[in-house]
Amino acid sequence: MIKKLTLSVLTAVTLTAGSAFAAGDAAHIHDTDFSFEGPFGKYDQNQLQRGLKVYTEICSACHGLQYVPLRTLADEGGPHLPEDQVRAYSSQFEVFDAELDDFRAAKPSDHFPASGMETAPDLSLMAKKRAAFHGPYGTGLNQLFKGIGGPEYIAALLTSYTGEEKEEAGTVFYENTAFPGGWIAMAPPLAGEDVDFDDGHSNELHHEAEDVAAFLMWTAEPKMMDRKQAGFIGVLLLALLSVLLYLTNKKIWAPHKKKH
Ligand code: HEC
Repeated sequence: MIKKLTLSVLTAVTLTAGSAFAAGDAAHIHDTDFSFEGPFGKYDQNQLQRGLKVYTEICSACHGLQYVPLRTLADEGGPHLPEDQVRAYSSQFEVFDAELDDFRAAKPSDHFPASGMETAPDLSLMAKKRAAFHGPYGTGLNQLFKGIGGPEYIAALLTSYTGEEKEEAGTVFYENTAFPGGWIAMAPPLAGEDVDFDDGHSNELHHEAEDVAAFLMWTAEPKMMDRKQAGFIGVLLLALLSVLLYLTNKKIWAPHKKKH
């Protein structure tokens, strides 16, 4: 019986290890120390503003952010742009107004537009849809320590083109070692020095990629800092409660314990 059990456990472990190895083979995504990781992590306001610039000048040509309200660009803990800048920023997009039955300039109360290119997925939640870390051996343990790795995956995707292309059924595919399957239909969107950052930060390829990845993590989870803070206060209160309960328990039992 025990022998049989051990055997089946062993087979299961070997099977998972085998498949995890196969899946991990394509992508070698390294961990990035983003400012928002860890129990006290916070978004870096400047980085979000830089990422917004990369998104606006490059990615928005094809990708939408249709679940993100433009007004949240003013949020503290987010890019935290002044209200007048948010208004000016919004007005560059056109939205269809059903009441007017016509297009008009977007307002902060509108959302970012949807993807302009049919085959380009919406990026609002992309940083939470993709995972970079599955190991070791498919256990997902790494996710506990490094995070799920969505932003790492996006940064890696933007920097892992090999330069090889092929055409299949009229579509051009670009070799990309971070993309599952190895061939993606998105032409390399960044080459480095694509945008000039207002804060003078380096615009080398990997910086641009990390900044836009951080920005997309914010669009996917804008309230992360609130959640972490609430969690921390919760843990503090529970710790305090444990101490009080321990002391109460001691006090209640003290007279009975003395008798023996
Ligand atoms: C010229 C149009 C175009 C531009 C510009 C562009 N993309 Fe894409 N992107 C695409 C298309 C098309 C796909 C779908 C590719 C596929 O599934 O093979 C895609 C897919 C993606 C994906 C999803 C990959 C996956 O795992 O499915 C991400 C993430 C992404 N793009 C991020 C970006 C970012 C960030 C930028 C700006 C730096 C950008 N893209 C600029 C066209 C574009």
